[in-house]
Amino acid sequence: MAASLLRAAGRRRCPAEVLRRLVSSEAAPERAPSRTPPEMPPFDHQPRPYAGMGGAEIFEKRKAVLGPSLFHYYQKPLNIVEGKMQYLYDEHGKRYLDCFGGIVTVSCGHCHPDIVSAVVEQTKLLQHTTTIYLHHAIVEFAEALTSKMPGNLKVAYFVNSGTEANELAMLMARLYSGNLSMVALRNAYHGGSAGTIGLTGLQTWKYPIPQGEIHHVMNPDPYRGTFGSDAAAYAKEVEEHITYGSSGRVAGFIAETFQGVGGAVELAPGYLKLAYDIVRKAGGVCIADEVQSGFGRTGSHYWGFQTQGVIPDIVTMAKGIGNGLPLGAVVTTPEIASVLSQKIQFNTFGGNPVCSAGGLAVLKVLDKEKRQAHCADVGAHLVERLKSLQEKHESKIFKSPFLFI
Ligand SMILES: Cc1ncc(COP(=O)(O)O)c(C=O)c1O
Repeated sequence: MAASLLRAAGRRRCPAEVLRRLVSSEAAPERAPSRTPPEMPPFDHQPRPYAGMGGAEIFEKRKAVLGPSLFHYYQKPLNIVEGKMQYLYDEHGKRYLDCFGGIVTVSCGHCHPDIVSAVVEQTKLLQHTTTIYLHHAIVEFAEALTSKMPGNLKVAYFVNSGTEANELAMLMARLYSGNLSMVALRNAYHGGSAGTIGLTGLQTWKYPIPQGEIHHVMNPDPYRGTFGSDAAAYAKEVEEHITYGSSGRVAGFIAETFQGVGGAVELAPGYLKLAYDIVRKAGGVCIADEVQSGFGRTGSHYWGFQTQGVIPDIVTMAKGIGNGLPLGAVVTTPEIASVLSQKIQFNTFGGNPVCSAGGLAVLKVLDKEKRQAHCADVGAHLVERLKSLQEKHESKIFKSPFLFI
């Protein structure tokens, strides 16, 4: 998300300067709002009086005791102390409409009662044992999650984040194919760990460490991409990369179906089908990173890859899956999953009873409250209003039939 702002704010500035301006409390003064913001509708929730540490003190202490890579928004960062559904409250009880959702993570609303209740009840009973022991919650969650998947995507692994999910997916791809080369898109974000930093295709997030055997192919960005919406031209570039830049055999291909961190960029229509065919012919598996685009967020489909009419071999997810719980997952076919039985593959917290109970509650709430339809509704409204801006600005911005809300 920060990168989308970087992208928007910094097209002509060097990234270091843009980052400094965006994250620094000494950034250029904010422009005065041109008019008073509209009043928010009434909401039946009284935030608790807050008596904890004030924002200014937290900010100072944070700089002293936390790593310097942390950044914040606004000249004066907000101290958010409570959340209720679509609203957040600061230390003074001021209410904000949350359009950010903790980086598109709060998929059902802050402190949703069903999810809080599932987490609290499970916490009171049993918080942790590891998967060495049996527990019903992980099985129920895996059944519910895989029932949302098409094709033979029937086996789930649970981890703690999107980065871990992509690490595991890359490992599976390499073991299953027997190849090393991964193909990823430019402008992609797949994590910042030693392994996934190589998959990520944004220099603002990359440190100069060995990036692994990764080929970054052209981003099939229908708006700013070299070939516009010409999916076949981008796919040909994938083929040529494999032919000329690898042994001809690859481990896999990973792509978000809507790039989130890179700036809410969709892929040229029909691109994934062509790219998947090419990668599979070269011995690779196809990974869909649904960390941001999954769980109905596009409005039209539950999974982003469905907007491209493909079925991946591996799907990675996080963020919206847990409504704020540290939860990630990899779903794949039984055949691909079997490669991880050659050695011990273990994750201490992955699928723990509390996160599994919470994750299951999230899936139920998404269905019960028709959250996908809600995304379609709210998204359509937003797009319509944005279209009025289109008349004043560039004409290609809102062409997409899909939402990414
Ligand atoms: C598409 C995508 N994949 C992977 C990740 C990494 O997830 P996490 O921050 O949970 O490790 C992110 C995080 O923003 C993401 O947007």
